[in-house]
Amino acid sequence: MILLHGMNPATPAFDQSYFRSALSRFPTGVTVVVAQAADGSPIGMTISSFSSLSLEPPLVLWTLKLESASIAHMRQAEGYVIHVLSAAQQDLAYRFAKGSQQERFEGIPLKRSRSGLWMLDMPDCSAWFECRNHHQHDAGDHAIFIGAVHACAWTNAQPLIHHSRRFHHSPPVAEIIVER
Ligand SMILES: Cc1cc2nc3c(=O)[nH]c(=O)nc-3n(C[C@H](O)[C@H](O)[C@H](O)COP(=O)(O)O)c2cc1C
Repeated sequence: MILLHGMNPATPAFDQSYFRSALSRFPTGVTVVVAQAADGSPIGMTISSFSSLSLEPPLVLWTLKLESASIAHMRQAEGYVIHVLSAAQQDLAYRFAKGSQQERFEGIPLKRSRSGLWMLDMPDCSAWFECRNHHQHDAGDHAIFIGAVHACAWTNAQPLIHHSRRFHHSPPVAEIIVER
């Protein structure tokens, strides 16, 4: 059964948790963004606010809360790699949303991208985007990071989906015909 929750006398005109619940009804994919801290070590976090932005030039965006422990590192990072998680990588979504950076990367295989950025050495991601940290814009309590994509790759792996604060798996992905 579908329950429609609207405003009622018990609901304040604008209630933050109600707003968050409404936002959670928008299904998204889940990514892990990996960059390099000033000391050279990798930093990473789970991000679902990823979106395509522009085809020409190729741009994507994602947002990070200003109170994030990594915000200062992200602001100064030269670039980052955005990994779109597959259904088989749900554990990574939990891992990169809590704990210290050291704990997040414990036992995680890493490699350098062609342009020298840290990235997950995991061929079973759904896709990845290697980005230059092109532009940042603070809006409310988040910073919008705009990435200029200079390399990307994708697979037919079934993607991980986040909806109503839960993870879901999509039906198997059909073979995609590549348009070039
Ligand atoms: C599925 C999921 C999606 C998330 N998406 C975002 C997001 O888009 N932006 C954000 O700031 N935090 C997001 N988070 C929370 C961050 O992953 C979490 O706050 C993390 O601790 C941030 O890292 P830091 O505080 O070490 O910088 C998400 C968490 C989960 C589990």
